[in-house]
Amino acid sequence: MKNIVIAIDGTSASGKSTNARLVAQALGYVYVDTGAMYRTLAWYCLQKNVDVHDAKAVTALLRKWKTRLECADARARLLVDGYYPEKEIRTAEVSAAVAQVAAIPKVREWMVARQRECVQFGNLVMEGRDIGTNVFPETEFKFYLDASLEERTRRRSAEGVNENLAARDQRDSQRATAPLMVPLGAMVINNSQLTSDQTSHLIIGEVRKRLAGKK
Ligand code: DC
Repeated sequence: MKNIVIAIDGTSASGKSTNARLVAQALGYVYVDTGAMYRTLAWYCLQKNVDVHDAKAVTALLRKWKTRLECADARARLLVDGYYPEKEIRTAEVSAAVAQVAAIPKVREWMVARQRECVQFGNLVMEGRDIGTNVFPETEFKFYLDASLEERTRRRSAEGVNENLAARDQRDSQRATAPLMVPLGAMVINNSQLTSDQTSHLIIGEVRKRLAGKK
């Protein structure tokens, strides 16, 4: 049987991670955070003193780095030299560098190939910016999350992170390769006024309805 992929795209701090995790848990699917993969490369560039604005240097590093995909606790993750830099990829330095790395076409090509390989782990809930448009455009299960800039900034500050979300959204939406956009056929959920329980219930309900309709 072909595995199911639920694609959750959206702006920064629109609740993709929380909701993707809740949906994966409720359905017993594997959770894939594709932003973490881009962050891992940004972190690795900083480690190796590679300028993230230098596409050639980043691409050269990408050819050399030793990575492996694994699935642990129903989560897919990308290891570098056998190590998963879980905490390191969440620093302000990595957040500031990641959009540059994610704009490089060769990087996106590499990441998309790894992300597609994740179907080996089972049914997936995959979150990112181009899952429904580019990674799995054929999936029937596409969701796009958004919330007002004020609400998203409030959420990030509550996590202790002060970030210029408007600037990152602009970079993600205006890049030439696979820009952030609403995938064709996606259910758009603006969750400015919703809790994550409410948002995830909307998604789970819609998925169950569609799966029941296929029987
Ligand atoms: O979701 P996040 O903040 O961890 O994503 C980190 C960066 O990676 C963000 O600038 C957008 C980019 N990204 C992307 O371009 N495509 C994806 N599928 C996932 C993330």
